[in-house]
Amino acid sequence: MKTELLTVLDTTDKNAEIAHAADVICHGGLVVFPTETVYGIGGNGTDPLAAEAIYRAKGRPSDNPLILHISEPKEAEKYAYTNDLYDRLAAQFMPGPLTVILPKKDIVPKTVTGGLDTVALRCPAHPVAHALIKAAGVPIAAPSANLSGKPSPTLASHVVNDLLGKVDIIIDGGAAEVGLESTIVSLAGEKPTLLRPGAITYDALCLALGEVEIAPAVVEGLRENEKPLSPGMKYRHYAPGAPLTLLDGEDEAVTAFMCEAAKNANTGILCYDEEIPKMPQGAVLFSVGAKDDLSTQAHRLFAVLREADTNPNITALFAHLPPQKGLGLALYNRLIRAAAHTVKKV
Ligand code: TXA
Ligand code: MG
Repeated sequence: MKTELLTVLDTTDKNAEIAHAADVICHGGLVVFPTETVYGIGGNGTDPLAAEAIYRAKGRPSDNPLILHISEPKEAEKYAYTNDLYDRLAAQFMPGPLTVILPKKDIVPKTVTGGLDTVALRCPAHPVAHALIKAAGVPIAAPSANLSGKPSPTLASHVVNDLLGKVDIIIDGGAAEVGLESTIVSLAGEKPTLLRPGAITYDALCLALGEVEIAPAVVEGLRENEKPLSPGMKYRHYAPGAPLTLLDGEDEAVTAFMCEAAKNANTGILCYDEEIPKMPQGAVLFSVGAKDDLSTQAHRLFAVLREADTNPNITALFAHLPPQKGLGLALYNRLIRAAAHTVKKV
């Protein structure tokens, strides 16, 4: 398949490109588009064949459901049984980096929901995503636009590496602002439950909803015989080619450990900006952002991990263990998986 590359940085004078991409979606094609979290690979969310094409292009098991992207929060009513809690979340966080799980209506094909009776809904804030969904006139089913097992793409070049020749269109909309996938909260069970932490923090959800449970798999591995609340939890997550170790300890101790490790030229170190001048010559350094700037760390994480993976000389990777609060919980959740839960106390 020949993949068309379009650049749409500004929606105001790019209506023709958006209309063309929307037309491709309506005819069963696949379009990669930017969102404020990560890039998504989208197809017509009411068409079971489009969902199958998405699973094929990503190499994703078809029991791992897709998120339906809508252009306005109130559209959720067409596809799911909404409730008061949904209305509260919609009023506060939509459009934005939040996905809500609700009981689905029959109009949503089971291929999209991986056979589940619930559906994931998200109303993205990115202007290109918004314009595309509106122009298509259908909800857009879209998982992250990476090959299964790779980090989610935050740049169009990541998508080109993974999916060129496998989709009809890739829309380049610049760097994804947040850099980590949306927060997922389920309103389909007895209590609201956080399934995946993201830029909408746990504390923000509690303020809006009252009590919110945290699915154990957010911070731990899935226990043996535990039924995952989200099918995505049971699949192998991205892990870099070189084993990643997360360092847990006082700042000074971690920096000292990194400095020592950095003497080995085959080591890759994900360090804070302020640590860079302290590191000796030798290792490959990746600056993740300033220590207190978790937004930049989130924004850069997946790009840094992809970059580290392209360096065949790196045989070991080290990074800070993020704090489990605020946006740190989302970083923790992604890094602990990438590290296969390898944490070293220093
Ligand atoms: O930020 C994002 O959410 C990006 C952009 C493109 O919107 N999308 C994304 O999709 O990260 P994906 O498919 O890579 O991750 C969605 C996760 C999967 O782990 C899936 O198992 C879970 O959401 N999920 C989808 N529908 C679900 C449902 N009905 N119940 C529980 N989990 C569900
Ligand atoms: Mg994904």
